[in-house]
Amino acid sequence: MEFSKILNKSEFLKANLVQLLAAEGEELDLLYEKATEVKLANIGNKVYYRGLIEYSNICAKNCFYCGLRCGNTTISRYTLKDEEVVEAAGIAFEKNFGSLVIQSGERSDRKFIQKIADLLKQIRDLSEGKLRVTLSMGEQTEETYQLWRESGAQRYLLRIETSNPELYHKIHPNDELHSYENRLLSLELLRKTGYQVGTGVMIGLPFQTLEDLATDLLFIKNHDIDMVGMGPYVENENTPLYEFRHLLLPKEKRLELSIKMVAILRLLMPKINMAATTAMQTLHPKGREMALKVGANVIMPNLTPLKYRDGYLLYDNKPNIHEETESSLQRLKKSIEDAGCELALGDWGDSQHFSERVSKDF
Ligand code: 5AD
Ligand code: SF4
Repeated sequence: MEFSKILNKSEFLKANLVQLLAAEGEELDLLYEKATEVKLANIGNKVYYRGLIEYSNICAKNCFYCGLRCGNTTISRYTLKDEEVVEAAGIAFEKNFGSLVIQSGERSDRKFIQKIADLLKQIRDLSEGKLRVTLSMGEQTEETYQLWRESGAQRYLLRIETSNPELYHKIHPNDELHSYENRLLSLELLRKTGYQVGTGVMIGLPFQTLEDLATDLLFIKNHDIDMVGMGPYVENENTPLYEFRHLLLPKEKRLELSIKMVAILRLLMPKINMAATTAMQTLHPKGREMALKVGANVIMPNLTPLKYRDGYLLYDNKPNIHEETESSLQRLKKSIEDAGCELALGDWGDSQHFSERVSKDF
């Protein structure tokens, strides 16, 4: 089908999405123009901050792509002290970010679960309930999700990584702890326990095809997801997947594919929240700006105390690990403006998709 006709459709078939993902030259310009138009018409040009706290790099899992995998003995492990979490949350509150993301390696022992619940309550107290909190702590039981929800978390990010079960099994160990089915179940439990639900995928993985990515987009749409964080796969030399780096697209093409994914998803889901992710910036200094221009509306400034930053290396060449908060915030604000967007402070920036979804349920 003719490219411009596809762009103006309201429903997209997988074949259409593959065609959009393959766009080059003038067609690619058309895709980006359309995505920008859809973004501005539906959610405007505001960009919301989520202050990011990388709480702990201790992880019970062993994903083949990630530097935090328990089998990686080259990093030293840390967990932030309570005071450090509270201080970082205080920065987000004082600076009027409106919201926080607490991310961690995956653990499901009682002590960890209770600690997160306690921290959530401390954050709720310090901000008088005025900060929205997103958790990103992997697969947990319904009881744990419920406990954390009641303790003050409103949003949860759990990436499906890839919606293709075969590819999922290629990039994870083949055991119960790394089950695709359980990941799906966890997404359902998050929905059931009342979170704004976020997911996402890695783009440009070894063995991944454009059909896989088209299916990822349809997965996100069909699961009626509220928020998305997706970005390029970036190799990490201390992980097993590094062996397949010869199969990867060059970095600029991997980034381009990620920006295309953002643009196309904005066409499919005009009202969701979508992050311009750090992995995009890792592949190109202006990677996040490109994403903001064509569809993203969320950025996560890192508030992790500097001394821990080199412990949270999911992939090689992660940027800003030595930069103080103040100067990185100034640069970030400029990037946002350069992308033609406006920084929104003092606003929760809830996903409009979520608000509409919830109001439909009543
Ligand atoms: N490249 C890009 N993203 C990665 N993640 C982990 N390792 C990598 C990598 N090598 C992402 C995954 C995971 C999140 C914590 O970080 O999507 O969900
Ligand atoms: Fe752990 Fe998440 Fe990394 Fe997997 S992707 S090793 S669960 S931190």
